[in-house]
Amino acid sequence: MNKTVKVELGKDSYDIIFDDNFVESAIALIGVSSKCMFITQETIYRAFEDKFSVLKSLPNVEFHFIGQGEEEKSIETVIEICDKMTGMHYDRSSTIFAVGGGVVGDTAGFVASIFMRGINYIQYPTTLLAMIDSSIGGKTGINLKSGKNLIGRIHQPKAVVIDTSFLATLPKREVNASLAEAIKYGFIYDRDLFDYIVKNMSNILSNRTPEILEKIIVRSCEIKSEVVSQDVNVIYMISPVR
Ligand SMILES: NC(=O)c1ccc[n+]([C@@H]2O[C@H](COP(=O)([O-])OP(=O)(O)OC[C@H]3O[C@@H](n4cnc5c(N)ncnc54)[C@H](O)[C@@H]3O)[C@@H](O)[C@H]2O)c1
Repeated sequence: MNKTVKVELGKDSYDIIFDDNFVESAIALIGVSSKCMFITQETIYRAFEDKFSVLKSLPNVEFHFIGQGEEEKSIETVIEICDKMTGMHYDRSSTIFAVGGGVVGDTAGFVASIFMRGINYIQYPTTLLAMIDSSIGGKTGINLKSGKNLIGRIHQPKAVVIDTSFLATLPKREVNASLAEAIKYGFIYDRDLFDYIVKNMSNILSNRTPEILEKIIVRSCEIKSEVVSQDVNVIYMISPVR
């Protein structure tokens, strides 16, 4: 599927690009000159090793793996990545590719927001939740022992690229949990989306029919994009000097 949804944020606007070929799209974005750090998790890398190995062989690409779960969204993980990039002479022209669910996206986005006072990053969401919610809007953050997402910044990605083939290996429990978010969008913003999910529920849960999932993801991205654009425009209006 080739489709684009625009996130309208003035000078920080970007596209959510639907692209079935993760490797080709990444190669186009990597370019030839600047250094690129792919931040992901070993489970995701192993599930798509044939694809990732093509990217790993590129001279300006490095991989960093973070562990599983909320505890990885920590200041220690952030410092480890920043130290690694400094040691490898990453600079302001370097780009981070966040390939994963919300844990990877929030952590990698936060690193991008602070490294050298902010560098470019691109979101490659691999969970349903990340595709319809966490990769869009520029909210980045990490946890403290005292609570979730207590340190964070708003740092918009340069693009969000969605390849729905990542969903094939996603554990069932993750699909079910993320579907709740799509149902919420439908309930609050779009009756047709809500009815569509309800009508296709058993098909989604048992078959993960790509056409049905794509339709839900595209509509959810449009809704999230509208909400995010309104949010930031309100901030711009009430606070012209940032
Ligand atoms: N920034 C935001 O606006 C925002 C919004 C909502 C949630 N969040 C954050 O998102 C996080 C939750 O994200 P999540 O639900 O994506 O969970 P997650 O990132 O922990 O991913 C869930 C599990 O699925 C695995 N996984 C990811 N992609 C896979 C794939 N394609 N195949 C197989 N396994 C895969 C991961 O390794 C992990 O074990 C929370 O930390 C939450 O705070 C952020």
